[in-house]
Amino acid sequence: MDIKIFDSAQELDAFAADLIVSTVQNKPAPVLGLATGSTPLGIYAKIVEMHRRQNISFQHVTSYNLDEYVGLTPDNDQSYAYYMKSHLFAHIDIPSNQTFLPNGMAEDLEAECSRYDSMLQEQPVDLQLLGLGHNGHIGFNEPAEALTGGTHAVKLEQETREANARFFASMDEVPELAITMGVGSILKANHILLVVRGADKADIVKQALTGPITTDVPASLLQTHPRVTVLLDREAGRKL
Ligand code: GLP
Repeated sequence: MDIKIFDSAQELDAFAADLIVSTVQNKPAPVLGLATGSTPLGIYAKIVEMHRRQNISFQHVTSYNLDEYVGLTPDNDQSYAYYMKSHLFAHIDIPSNQTFLPNGMAEDLEAECSRYDSMLQEQPVDLQLLGLGHNGHIGFNEPAEALTGGTHAVKLEQETREANARFFASMDEVPELAITMGVGSILKANHILLVVRGADKADIVKQALTGPITTDVPASLLQTHPRVTVLLDREAGRKL
C-alpha cells in the first residue's frame, strides 16, 4: 500500500484529482469506480475545475458507482444518483448513458444486482475511488462474519444510518436497505484509491491498514490488493 498523508485538504484533493485525470487521459476507454459521502466532495470539485480550466474531457469515460439506497428515486436529493449528478456529472462532459449506479428502485433487487455485476465484468474498473465508514465499511459492505463478493442488497447497520442521517431531514427518512458492490467486485479494480479524512476515523484507519485482515473490518481486505493508494489528512493518519 502506498500511503500519503497531506497537510491540507486542498493538497489531498489536487493529488486525487490528478490521479483520476491521468487515468482518464492515459486510457482510450477508461472506467472509473466512483464513491459518494462527504469525503470525495473536494475531489469532485477539483475535477470540475480541471475540466473547465484545462479542458479535460470525460466524453470517453464510463463510471460505475459503488452503491445506492433502496427506495429513493434518482430525483430524490438524498439518492446517490442525485449526489453524483449535482456534484460531478452535470458539470463535466461525461455522457449520461455512460454513468451507472445500482438502481435502488428496481422491483427485483436480486436481478438488478446480477445485471450490475455483468456490466462490471464487461467493463472492469481501472481506478476505484473509496471512502471509509467509521466501522470499516467500504461501499455499504458492513462488518459481518462473512462478506458477499458480488453486488448485493444489504441491511444498513444502525451506526451507518446514524452517520448518514446528517444528510436527511430526520433519522426515519434514512433508508434501511442499500445495494452495494461487494468486496470481491471492489477488489477487482486495477487500482484502488482510498481516501479518508478526520480525527474520528484515525482508529479505523489504523485497524484497516495495519490490523489483521478480517471481515469485521471490511476495509482490511484492501491489504490483499496489489495496488492501493491511500490518501489521508493529518488527522485521519495520526495513529499510523
Ligand atoms: C457511506 C457510503 C460509503 C462512504 C462512507 C463514508 O455510508 N456508502 O461509500 O465511503 O459512508 O462517508 P463519509 O465520506 O461521508 O464519511
